[in-house]
Amino acid sequence: MKKPVILTGLRSNNDLHIGNYLGALMPLINMQVQHAKDYDIHLFVPDLHSFTTPIDHSKLYEQTINNLRIYAAAGLDLDSPNTHIYRQSYVSAHSELTVILNCFSHMGELSRMTQYKEKAENKPNISVGLFDYPILMASDILLYDAQYVPVGADQSQHIELARDIAIRMNNKFGDLFTLPEPEAKQAEFMSQTERMRIRDLITPEKKMSKSDETGKGVIFLTDTPEAAAKKIMGATTDSFGEVHYDKKERPGISNLLDILAALTDTDIKEIVSRYAGQTQYGELKKDVAEAVSSFLTDFQFKLSQIDDAVIIKKLEASEIQMNKVANSKLLSVQKALGLRL
Ligand code: TYM
Repeated sequence: MKKPVILTGLRSNNDLHIGNYLGALMPLINMQVQHAKDYDIHLFVPDLHSFTTPIDHSKLYEQTINNLRIYAAAGLDLDSPNTHIYRQSYVSAHSELTVILNCFSHMGELSRMTQYKEKAENKPNISVGLFDYPILMASDILLYDAQYVPVGADQSQHIELARDIAIRMNNKFGDLFTLPEPEAKQAEFMSQTERMRIRDLITPEKKMSKSDETGKGVIFLTDTPEAAAKKIMGATTDSFGEVHYDKKERPGISNLLDILAALTDTDIKEIVSRYAGQTQYGELKKDVAEAVSSFLTDFQFKLSQIDDAVIIKKLEASEIQMNKVANSKLLSVQKALGLRL
């Protein structure tokens, strides 16, 4: 019997940061630990998604392999037969299904995507790929009948779109796709009250982002523990002078609390209570800096121990297997549309 699928991917357009780790990687790996036998786990690299905005292509291949190393260092169990790692561009059905789904998706719904609006704002020559990118993402999800998709808050609108497209296709052509669960159910399954959004340390009104040009507000997984601790100590806070969790009014402090809670697996309320009565943020910043630097020390050590040969062996085996799964789904879509008998 086919197992339900949990699936996520992280683009290889730049080094990954702590937001990617806490928003997508850690939830997926926690799920692998909790549901190892009951679910198929897909952690892939959406390499075709990596140049929807311009990148240095001479680095792409290596960055893609590096993402896979990071998946392993983060604790993904590569020995599990239910776990699959693959590169999107090595499974051509992703691209073919995108061409098909394009014809059943609407300009209006894509124009409403917040990510597109933010990335396209004030930029000349926006690529069609940036506009169309949620459809490629829908293909990534629907090809494997994924039910749960651990992602950060910035991607939930895309998951909802994938669900809408699947509903539309199923209504027209019969039961082609498993629907990804609605957002509330996704969060519940991941034991989250809402999807995670780690914010930029300097400008906490916006999310921490790989494409940030200065990198000053971003903790990359490749940062030295000392440099990362410095970035935390320099994080923008506020003038209230009281440790209080309020994402709207106090985004900087709330962001530091989110990071500390996630890295130490502690409830926010409990953390806040530790600083009761304090009128400055120095102590909290010091604790977050310590948690981040010890996380990076440990993580970077694990990364240095990764054996590329093990990854490549698993990668090649998964890609053979995933081509079979994806081609079979593509064929059922092609048949339903009248492209095949
Ligand atoms: P990407 O590569 O921009 O980000 C990878 C994952 O990291 C999450 N994330 C964050 N989470 C919390 N706080 C942040 N500041 C933060 N920044 C990024 C993202 O939400 C994401 O989960 N389109 C996707 C990649 C993708 C995908 C898919 C994901 C392609 N196909 C299919 C799931 C399923 C993207 O660009 O993520």
